[in-house]
Amino acid sequence: MTTREIFETMDYGPAPESAAEALDWIATRGPAFGHFIDGGFTRPGQTFATRNPATGVELAQITQGTQDDVDAAIAAATKAFPKWAKLSCHARAKYLYALARLLQKHARLFAVLETLDNGKPVREARDIDIPLAQRHFYHHAGLAQLRDAELPGHAPIGVCGQVIPWNFPLLMLAWKIAPALAAGNTVVLKPAEYTSLTALLFGQICQEAGLPKGVVNIVTGDGRTGEAIVTHPGTAKIAFTGSTAVGRRIREQTAGMGKSLTLELGGKSPYIVFDDADIDSAIEGLVDAIWFNQGQVCCAGSRLLVQEGIAGDFHTRLKARMAKLRVGDPLDKCIDMGALVDPVQLAAIKRMVDANTEGQTHHAPVALPDGGCFYPPTLITGLSTASPLMQDEIFGPVLVSTTFRTPVEAVEIANNTRYGLAATLWTENLNLALDIAPKLAAGVVWVNATNLFDAAAPFGGVRESGFGREGGWEGLSAYLKPTAKQAPIRPIAPFPAPEASTAPEAPGIDRTAKLYIGGKQARPDGGYSQAIWSRRGKLLGHAGIGNRKDIRNAVEAARGAGGWAKATAHNRAQVLYFIAENLSARGDEFARRLRDLTACAQARAEAEVAATIERLFSYAAWADKMDGRVAQVPIRGVALAMREPVGVIGALAPDEAPLLGLVSLFAPAIAMGNRVVVVPSRAYPLAATDLYQVLDTSDLPGGVVNMVTGDVQDLGQTLAAHADVDALWSFAGGVDAARLEAASSGNLKRTWINSDAPDWLARNAEGRAFLDQATEVRTIWVPYGE
Ligand code: NAI
Repeated sequence: MTTREIFETMDYGPAPESAAEALDWIATRGPAFGHFIDGGFTRPGQTFATRNPATGVELAQITQGTQDDVDAAIAAATKAFPKWAKLSCHARAKYLYALARLLQKHARLFAVLETLDNGKPVREARDIDIPLAQRHFYHHAGLAQLRDAELPGHAPIGVCGQVIPWNFPLLMLAWKIAPALAAGNTVVLKPAEYTSLTALLFGQICQEAGLPKGVVNIVTGDGRTGEAIVTHPGTAKIAFTGSTAVGRRIREQTAGMGKSLTLELGGKSPYIVFDDADIDSAIEGLVDAIWFNQGQVCCAGSRLLVQEGIAGDFHTRLKARMAKLRVGDPLDKCIDMGALVDPVQLAAIKRMVDANTEGQTHHAPVALPDGGCFYPPTLITGLSTASPLMQDEIFGPVLVSTTFRTPVEAVEIANNTRYGLAATLWTENLNLALDIAPKLAAGVVWVNATNLFDAAAPFGGVRESGFGREGGWEGLSAYLKPTAKQAPIRPIAPFPAPEASTAPEAPGIDRTAKLYIGGKQARPDGGYSQAIWSRRGKLLGHAGIGNRKDIRNAVEAARGAGGWAKATAHNRAQVLYFIAENLSARGDEFARRLRDLTACAQARAEAEVAATIERLFSYAAWADKMDGRVAQVPIRGVALAMREPVGVIGALAPDEAPLLGLVSLFAPAIAMGNRVVVVPSRAYPLAATDLYQVLDTSDLPGGVVNMVTGDVQDLGQTLAAHADVDALWSFAGGVDAARLEAASSGNLKRTWINSDAPDWLARNAEGRAFLDQATEVRTIWVPYGE
């Protein structure tokens, strides 16, 4: 081709990256690989092939991890844990720094190996995956250094079991291992079966860095190996990234095991283009949103929502851009899209697209290489919102598109999904962008940009996209636990009814406490109530026995009170102060009630009332002080890590301190803008039902706090299974955590089921731990400038 022709066609030739060093590494270290356990590589066991998806050629043999292998890795991590946890922050920081340096030193080898194993363009592996992985270790070297200074009163959790997917093999490894190590944990990590090679190379890097044996262990294999890790009694924390189906299974399998759990799952993220957007930029953004990594990105902007007036023009320009995308050999630095990870994935995408009978499917008219797992960039328009392709994650280079008329409609369509991972919006109108961003059900929002990631910025989802954050202080916290003293929760039985022979007291005016739903006293649906007796056999009153229907009504009322989340923090604080004021006015009465109910000393009862008033003050104070932060990301712009309410929280209150315990749960929740359905202590419910009279006179909008008395386990079970409840907390005694957590897997709600509790009168029974549970971090990226 002459220079003139090149100028005319603007075509360019291939720029292949050499695979020689990477293949050489495979040949020398393999070609059959064992696991990396206790600082060394094991002999290969039963193996399976890992192939280059661009050619189908076998690269290496990978060992299928057995139960014995997992046992050995967890034993090594358990042995290494105490010493690693006790190292100084600085010592751990130096190891993380060494890992970052070595990743940088071997960057090209990692990039090429990743491309060979995964099929992604080497340009992306070289410029995105590997630099971001390095950055993760550098950033976490810093977090390791500052851990004790910035997060006092915390300790590492123990051995972390980590299971990662194949779309960003090394980057996902970095996201998992760096915070775990920085916090002082040890790890057993399983890479995805299609892409184990860079994880094994990372094992070698751990050796080079002189990392103590057993701190990092890599066990390869498929889902069976993953299952052995996550269900192993030796892992104290599980961190998983992958499909929602497997995430749900892990939630069920680990229910009641007391493991800490974070799940980063699938998505169907909206990409919203308003009619005043910079169209060319928005189209270029789409290339990054859905054709980056062949669309195999959990937060891919896979659902295009374009404002009706510009839709025709937008689609025309988009198709023109699609026709220019180059699909080809991933090792060629000039291509835009490489190969899908495996024939299985290619077949799955074909199956989903071919099964669709709606709308118009446009495959970009681009040449695909022969053989290999290639699929063209695809746009599907004219689908109804309920179409499976609009709702299900395709995890490939397939964009579905729909239109909207107004911003309100855009939000409605965007949120019409069971997922909530990410969202992108394009508009030149700052007011519109900042109005819409917080309304989207998404853990991450990009404004006039897309797919931006950084170690300092929290990343993670809401709804069925999972829970927990990775990156920044928030991500580090997910690998730490508080060291404050706690005691095991023990159920307290109600005082029994007196013997029949005991002469009943002369009846007073019957008072049966009702339930408190939507700001109104409500009779229990079942029509039953329980008698509440004092220790000496005096009838103190009756409390309603709520059932499923009552819980459903309470959740509906809580959902309906969404305005509370929009009230200003100042306003919420005022209401909490007002509750405290009104409680204080009736303090003596509450103290007497507590004494009668629990048979405690008068002084103890008075102390509980005083502490309850103080607690309400604390959370009134916190209401406008639980700030978010601006993460220091390496772009010209800001990444706002905002604290937002979780939504509707179900809370099972402790028997211990029936008034203070109840308030200790709902006050932080409502201070942050949540609505709650609380199940008061079964033994002493009347302390709670007295309190709703206080709530009634304190300007608390109906539905913000709802109380359903009755059997804590039964009512908790209904809350756990309810699709409109976003989180479940429990400090109740005698509940079956396994059943509650298993039931929570339906909508993957966040759970905080405690087997230990603080002394409710103590300082550590309030503050950040509760506020963290009451909030979710939403990261909004806003780049500056043109
Ligand atoms: P997957 O969720 O099955 O695999 C992810 C990881 O989990 C792998 O390491 C796998 O070996 C492991 N795993 C599988 N079953 C397990 C179990 N029962 N217990 C513990 N670990 C287990 O995802 P897969 O099959 O690779 O892809 C299927 C679909 O999942 C994709 O088409 C895509 O839609 C979605 N996916 C989403 C990802 C995301 O980041 N959102 C990542 C990978 C897949």
